[in-house]
Amino acid sequence: LSAALERGSTQPKAKVMKYGGYYAPTAGSVDAEITRTGRGTPLGEYMRRFWHPVCLSDDLRDVPLAIRILGEDLVAFRDMSGDIGVLARKCAHRGASLEYGIIAEHGIRCSYHGWQYAVDGTLVDAPAEPKSTRLKETVCQGAYPAFEQHGLVFAYMGPPEEQPTVPLYEPLVFPKDNHIVAFSNFLPCNWLQVHENIADQAHAVFLHSGMTIDPNAKPGEGAQLNASFGQMPTLEWYEIGEGRGMVFVAGRRIGQRIWIRINDLSLPNITQHAYLFEGGTERKIFANHINMTRWSVPVDDENTQLFGWRFFNDLVDPHKRGDPGKCGKEAVDFLEGQVGNRPYEEGQRNPGDWEILTSQGKIAVHELENPGTTDGGVYLWRKLLRAAIRGARPAANPKTMSEYAARHSPVPLYSQDSVLDIPVRPGQDDQKLIREVGRQVLEVIRSGDHLSGSDRVTHIANGITAIEHEA
Ligand code: FES
Ligand SMILES: [Fe+2]
Repeated sequence: LSAALERGSTQPKAKVMKYGGYYAPTAGSVDAEITRTGRGTPLGEYMRRFWHPVCLSDDLRDVPLAIRILGEDLVAFRDMSGDIGVLARKCAHRGASLEYGIIAEHGIRCSYHGWQYAVDGTLVDAPAEPKSTRLKETVCQGAYPAFEQHGLVFAYMGPPEEQPTVPLYEPLVFPKDNHIVAFSNFLPCNWLQVHENIADQAHAVFLHSGMTIDPNAKPGEGAQLNASFGQMPTLEWYEIGEGRGMVFVAGRRIGQRIWIRINDLSLPNITQHAYLFEGGTERKIFANHINMTRWSVPVDDENTQLFGWRFFNDLVDPHKRGDPGKCGKEAVDFLEGQVGNRPYEEGQRNPGDWEILTSQGKIAVHELENPGTTDGGVYLWRKLLRAAIRGARPAANPKTMSEYAARHSPVPLYSQDSVLDIPVRPGQDDQKLIREVGRQVLEVIRSGDHLSGSDRVTHIANGITAIEHEA
């Protein structure tokens, strides 16, 4: 009986024994603090202090678009004057859905009794009411500020008086000829497991290694990771910006070179990815061109919509491995199994992130995990997030982050690949050397925090070249 009780407890203790399935813990409670995003929840309130993509520009047509973000049912539209509206879905009059509304010159008109709302939620017309009506002074529709940028529609769902700066990310201004393509990717599971997957670089070695191809594949051939990703890297994780985000530093020996890859994850839900098709074979110094910026946006606590930009230019993708034509609504051009549109058996034979992340459950139960050393990034992310929500890290405060974004425009990023000519040293621990080089590369990048633009790039590139010479 005591064993049965123990099995049913919310704090299960694993028994290490043969054929002990009966004793294996199967249930635990969800880590609500960092997974629940509804209004009034600690994370939901934190998230609501930032701008988030809520749909693709292309989704806005002549009929309104029903969307759900952070557990709130909304409607998005572009009115006939070109302004974007993101309004509560239920009409303030008697609750009809504005997804059946009629898009107007200014705002949207509910089709039930014709009440019309401007994009800011103001009631501008109630045609069945007498001229003397005071309704316009007492009623408004819930509305959120919104704007379009490079194919994504962003909205801010927090208190108006706390509306933050819109951060300007580096790839939006550099390089000048950057071709930017918006995409979306839906996963029926909690946002956190989708997001923290990026802090887990070890999975690229296993989940994606079955899909690796020859690093010398011809341009356009490879929508896969390069073979070099299949090699287990040294892994380290660091906070950046005093808790505003984190990076992983992955180091690999590729012949006579050391490849240091860094990607950054910023609070609350942004990841910026270095070159997706990197192979680590060509010498590179601080190739900081971003291949993808992505937001893990909670639809609600059990569904996530990834929104992002893929960037195409000669600097980031000199061999033209990426394919802008394959990116868009529920479509990306890298790796199999990103989008949930494949037959089940195909997913079984060749699983990708979509299959794996959704298989962790609607909301992955952290209590049931048995973390290993490669999970350091996932656990660091959770720690940062928790600290941010609790207000324990001033730099992660939404207001501080907004001020930071206003001062640093564009926001400097840490994501990069450097491939350094540092051969194996006979008789020395190579893993230790790779780790040390990784640490030094990050240190050099950090030392450029006070600089911007080409001054920063030159400073960092010089510093990394020096590491190569001194090694
Ligand atoms: S319910 Fe919308 S106008 Fe009546
Ligand atoms: Fe992955």
